[in-house]
Amino acid sequence: MSHAVIKVVDLWKYYDEEGHGGNAALRGTSLEVRRGEVLAIFGKSGSGKSTLLNLIAGLDRPTRGLIEIEGKNLETLGEAGRTELRRTRLGFVFQFFNLIPTLTALENVHLSLELAGISNLQIAGEALAGVSLHGKERRYPHELSGGEQQRVAIARALVKDPALVLADEPTGNLDTMTGNQILKILTSRCRQTGMTLVMVTHTSLACHYADRILTMVDGIITDKLNSEEI
Ligand SMILES: Nc1ncnc2c1ncn2[C@@H]1O[C@H](COP(=O)(O)OP(=O)(O)OP(=O)(O)O)[C@@H](O)[C@H]1O
Ligand SMILES: [Mg+2]
Repeated sequence: MSHAVIKVVDLWKYYDEEGHGGNAALRGTSLEVRRGEVLAIFGKSGSGKSTLLNLIAGLDRPTRGLIEIEGKNLETLGEAGRTELRRTRLGFVFQFFNLIPTLTALENVHLSLELAGISNLQIAGEALAGVSLHGKERRYPHELSGGEQQRVAIARALVKDPALVLADEPTGNLDTMTGNQILKILTSRCRQTGMTLVMVTHTSLACHYADRILTMVDGIITDKLNSEEI
């Protein structure tokens, strides 16, 4: 049994499952992420970053290869097991926030907690306070700035105290200053609580906040870089 939070071995993904004639989005990627690590995966548009995150999240299935989350093989968990794992052990942060527009900030965060089996508005309120949104609980997403919406999304991801947080271009839709604030909040909250964080990005911003940086080229995780090199 591996002690890694994420273990990926020789992962392949063809979106064209029938033909296999086209290019694979992932071409034999392997990866191990330790508990508590803050990892950035850096790669240009189309290199397969979102594909990899979606597979790790169990939202899509690989053509072949192994994915284990906390020692559990996603394939043998089945659909219901993957959904349960996602609701209780994983948190997500997306490029375009993906908040539910008809729910307030507090309700968005609380829904995530409820899906993890806990109904507690106080915990949801504390999660919002933890990203400096105290006083904005009743605002709807359209009444918040982009940076504030992304902080709600971070609170929504972290409120259930997940083992693993996956962030797909968490600053992609924000200006540089707001992006830095978001990264500071996200990485410091994860480090405080010992959550494992994987960020994928095609900009260098997130790399400066990571313990380790990997690069992705044409569906393969290639080499390691220091943040000074980016
Ligand atoms: N649902 C899909 N169906 C078919 N092809 C897809 C699908 N999703 C992604 N692809 C293809 O797979 C490859 C990898 O895409 P992916 O979205 O993983 O890249 P990315 O690194 O996240 O890019 P970006 O930085 O632009 O978000 C691309 O060639 C893309 O066109
Ligand atoms: Mg992407």
